[in-house]
Amino acid sequence: MLGFLLAAVLAGGAAVASAAPRDQARRMHDRLVGTPPSEAVLTQMENLIAGGDPMGAAMVAMQNPDFYNTTLKNFAAVTTNVGGSVFVPLNDMTATIIGLIRDNRDFREVLYADVVYTGGNSVPTPYSPFNNQHYQELEDNGVDLSTALVARAQSTTHPDLAQGGAAGVQTTRAAAEAYFSAGTNRRMLYHIFDSFLCRKFEDIQDVTRTPDRVRQDVTRSPGGDSGIYLSSCVGCHAGMDALAGAYAYYHFDPNAGDPNNGDTGGLVYTPNAVQPKYLQNAGTFPTGFQTVDDSWINYWRFGTNSVLGWNWTNAVSSDRGTGAAALGRELANSYAFAECQAKRVFKTVCLREPATYQDEVQVQAMASSLRQSGYNMKQIFAESAVYCMGQ
Ligand code: HEC
Repeated sequence: MLGFLLAAVLAGGAAVASAAPRDQARRMHDRLVGTPPSEAVLTQMENLIAGGDPMGAAMVAMQNPDFYNTTLKNFAAVTTNVGGSVFVPLNDMTATIIGLIRDNRDFREVLYADVVYTGGNSVPTPYSPFNNQHYQELEDNGVDLSTALVARAQSTTHPDLAQGGAAGVQTTRAAAEAYFSAGTNRRMLYHIFDSFLCRKFEDIQDVTRTPDRVRQDVTRSPGGDSGIYLSSCVGCHAGMDALAGAYAYYHFDPNAGDPNNGDTGGLVYTPNAVQPKYLQNAGTFPTGFQTVDDSWINYWRFGTNSVLGWNWTNAVSSDRGTGAAALGRELANSYAFAECQAKRVFKTVCLREPATYQDEVQVQAMASSLRQSGYNMKQIFAESAVYCMGQ
């Protein structure tokens, strides 16, 4: 208090001393919401900051619908497509991420829960797992996502997932279309690591891992040189192929659904039947690993990728399992997951990458408070806004 008064005096009077919290409030609102606050909200936030409760001010800003309709929408949208673009139609993966954050749910669920957020009855076309019409209408009509989103069980909305297999956003239609189309399903794992652990395989490859799960389609002598296989291909494929077994029963079929109904394809889940894409090009290296079920092993728990901070409590996650939901638990319980959310929130709110030592300390503090808060994302959006509200 004394310091505050002194600062006010030195700065030339009370008017200047109260200007700072008002500027901080305005900046905080801009960063969280993307638009200027109303006079009433600005004053409310200013008073909270001046009264020593900047977290309270951030929470007030986050009540603005545009925190959901703009900030979180963009935060989520980039994870739903290969190019990491925000300029993609609203979809079920974006909506699910926004919904989990709005409802203060444990954000680890994003990778394993049996949940999808829809717009309920707020537009004429109901949710379908076989087209994006419902979300397109939500967007076209400017429906307020902060109030319209409702949680549903994927298993009740999708005939295949009724037999199991729901695994958070991994099994949304948007993710399936982006990452389970054609290919070999390794792309899903690549993008889940990139978006939710902030790790690109290019940066975490480790050639010292056991290669016994590398599939048959990977040549062991690219260009006739087995040295390249050992020094390059194994770096990703040993760890990646062992994990991507989790997706063996999934595929995005562009013909799924009913074209007469405007359907444009959807996720296919075939419990106990390995998708043909796992066995394609088996002749490339016939004694390579042949996928027979959806089991997976995390060889990256050891070696250089032990720094991702895996969770060693067996009741929470395990170094091996079956299916995408169990894999989602393994990934979401890593330290890298918490740290990645902190980094991405920092970037969203501070409008820059963490750059200084002080920024790095802040990111780590946010990662640990995410964990302590039961993975409540709003907590770290607020903390980040306080950190970047300016002096
Ligand atoms: C930096 C990590 C990385 C390295 C190193 C790497 N791969 Fe891959 N590989 C991937 C990823 C990721 C995919 C999935 C790509 C996709 O579907 O978008 C993939 C897919 C493949 C496929 C399946 C392609 C298809 O869709 O049919 C083959 C075959 C393959 N890699 C062989 C190799 C060989 C041979 C080497 C060594 C010369 C190698 N890879 C090195 C990451 C890697």
